[in-house]
Order: sequence, then structure tokens, then C-alpha cells
Amino acid sequence: MTLYSRHGRPARIRPSRFDRLLRPVHAWVWRDPRRRARKLLRFARTEADGGRDLSRAAELTRDGLLRTLYLRHALDEQRHAKIFRTRGRALIRSLPGADGKGFEANWFAPGERGLDDLRVDGENDASLLAFLHLSEKAAAARFALYEEVLAADPETQGVFNTILQDEAFHMTYTHQQLIRVAPRKWTASLWKARLGRLWKAWLRIAAAVAGLLGTLILLLQYLLFLPPFALLAKRNARREPQGWFPARSPTPLRSQY
Ligand SMILES: [Fe+2]
Ligand SMILES: [Fe+2]
Repeated sequence: MTLYSRHGRPARIRPSRFDRLLRPVHAWVWRDPRRRARKLLRFARTEADGGRDLSRAAELTRDGLLRTLYLRHALDEQRHAKIFRTRGRALIRSLPGADGKGFEANWFAPGERGLDDLRVDGENDASLLAFLHLSEKAAAARFALYEEVLAADPETQGVFNTILQDEAFHMTYTHQQLIRVAPRKWTASLWKARLGRLWKAWLRIAAAVAGLLGTLILLLQYLLFLPPFALLAKRNARREPQGWFPARSPTPLRSQY
């Protein structure tokens, strides 16, 4: 995938070094057609969300050129959502004995968010462009890796190839526009957006670790406290008389007079 930087030099979208290290994991994740379909449907949802956010950004900006670019970007993301959805559904239909409707509905659970949760309200042009540039760059690098590991499924590989053309444009225009709207502080805006992304990534990891620790503590509680109580209950059951026994006759009430 080739795109042109602002200096006119061709640049290639490559997976990040970290993703390259995890390539076998990504290859394993994409190998299973059921999981592949789920991921595509989730991507469809994320892209559609992104399209809606960009329409909102077009509404809010006072910059005419940015408004046009955001609207084109929004249309691209909507088209990506459709491409992912179509391929995901086709994969589901090809699965033996899969109930397409129910399977898909699980993944479209309300409230589920994509990794890059874009918030356009309250952002200025520079901060939004910096955030968009980093998100598009990360998505493009990840999609380039998916394209690589999907050699066994040329149709899905073609989906990523098509979408990557647009992602290259999104990545380039956001960078160029950031330099235009903030010629003196575009680097600072990028660093601020990078730190924001790192902070969000840290929060996601912390939440995942907290969830895992909660499960472990609950499991330990079951293992440590349940067996002694079960033993005590068993011992008490042995001491108590078994079966039915006659009730005692009630003591007659004495008259107070
Ligand atoms: Fe996209
Ligand atoms: Fe994009």
C-alpha cells in the first residue's frame, strides 16, 4: 500500500513492530471463519460509529475545507461499514449449520464501543485532526497486517485491500490539515493526542486486569470457604435425627385468675 506524504515521497503502510511480534497470534485469530465473521461484523459497527462522529465533526467545524473533507471521510467510513458487514454476513452464511441472524445479533449488542472512541464535541480542529490522524494511522497499520495474514481467504483479503486505499487517504489528509490549521503547534497537538491514547489504553488494560483479579478472588473464596462449610453441614446432618418423629403435645395454658 503506497501513499504520498506531504513531501511528495511515497510512503508504505506497514504493520507496527509490536503487531509484527504478535503476527502468529493475529494469524491464529483470523484462521477460524466463525471468528473472522465476528470480527468483520464488529469492524462494521465501529466504522459506522466513526462515520456518524465525522458527520457531527463536519457540522461543528467553522472551516469550510475541513467540513468537505469530514463529510467525504464520513461517507468512506459508512461504505467501509457496508463492505465489512456484507463480507461478514457472507462468511456466516457459508458456515455449516450456522444460524446467521442469532449469531450476528450477539455481536451487535447495544453499548459496545470500538477501540478508538471518538468524541468530537468540545474538541478544536487541531486536537480532533491529531486524534483522527493517529487513529487512522493505527487502523491502517493493523489492516495492513490483517491483509498479510489473510492469504488463505482472498475475498476477505480483498476487503482489507480496498479499505486500505481510503485509510491511506484519511491518514494523509488529517496530517496535512493539521499542519495547515496549526502550523506552529501541530507537533504538540500530536503528542497530546498520543498521550491521550496511551492513557485510554492504560485505562482499558487496568479495567481488564481488575476484571481478571475480581474473577480470581471470587474463585479463591469459593475454593477456601465452601469446602469447610460443606463439611460442617454434612456433620450436623449426621447428628440430627433422621426421618419423621411425633410432635410434642402443647403445654396447657394456665389461667391467670
Ligand atoms: Fe475506515
Ligand atoms: Fe478511516
